[in-house]
Amino acid sequence: MTPERVYWNRREFLQRAGFTGLGLLGASRLPAQDKDAKPASKKDDTTGGLYPARRNEKFTLDRPLTDESAATSYNNFYEFSFEKSAPARLAQQMVVKPWTLEVTGLCAKPKTYDLEDLLKRMPFEERLYRFRCVEAWSMAVPWTGFPLSKLLDEVEPLSTARHLRFVTFLKPEWAPNQRSDEYPWPYFEGLTMAEARNELSMLVTGVYGKPLPNQNGAPIRLIVPWKYGFKSAKSIVKIELVEKQPPTFWNTLIPGEYDFTANVNPSVPHPRWSQATERTIDTGERRPTLLYNGYAEQVAKLYG
Ligand code: MTE
Repeated sequence: MTPERVYWNRREFLQRAGFTGLGLLGASRLPAQDKDAKPASKKDDTTGGLYPARRNEKFTLDRPLTDESAATSYNNFYEFSFEKSAPARLAQQMVVKPWTLEVTGLCAKPKTYDLEDLLKRMPFEERLYRFRCVEAWSMAVPWTGFPLSKLLDEVEPLSTARHLRFVTFLKPEWAPNQRSDEYPWPYFEGLTMAEARNELSMLVTGVYGKPLPNQNGAPIRLIVPWKYGFKSAKSIVKIELVEKQPPTFWNTLIPGEYDFTANVNPSVPHPRWSQATERTIDTGERRPTLLYNGYAEQVAKLYG
């Protein structure tokens, strides 16, 4: 049984986290749009020449790109704050270089990577993807990174590795909300092996032709664009290959509302709000939500 105090604190957490429908109201608090933002250039790149990367033209959008200033100032990063505008300031506490990424569990070649070394070997590219949060806001952004599959190839998963578990850092000295032990930090998420191997699944280290800002999950995060945004764990330190479906952060906190699969589906409402439409974060425009966020061609076969 959950002790009553923990239960009420969790309720408060969930309400303040905006996973209550309140997140739908946030548009009017956005900063002015950054219409004059300059395109990224090599001088923005502190990584020795990785950015901007070549765009993979296979991934196209049906809508304009979201303004960079909106995508980097309206964030969910609950380790830092429940307010969408706060991570852009508070996440500057993070030290993202050097960074290690441990890939472990059911694989022939487990390894703890120095991120800089790993990035030199990976096939870097930019992809334009839609991104849909379970709170019914959306954006369209240019991510830079590499297919998750390429990293899996390096560690050689065993045939028993049916799922992946992603874990974010645990650093209460950086992240104020991690100083509370009421919540199951660090943030943890999961995918099936087939989902991880899908061509859309990407490990991302940059956005808008530059390294990821801390508030967007620097230095490395997951992007799975056919799923609600909470599946795309930020600032990952560990990927574990496991047999059974691993527990996940939001499902552990409130199982009736956030399931493991979490595929974008306009005809399945959240228990407390509709998922039929979404609000674009920079313009406030409402548009119909697409099944699998418009990626049915690539992923419907996984759920046949
Ligand atoms: N990862 C961590 N570690 N902590 C979080 O709070 N929030 C998730 C996801 N990944 C979250 C996270 C949610 S709910 C969303 S919608 C996206 O990150 C937001 O990503 P963005 O801020 O880059 O738009």
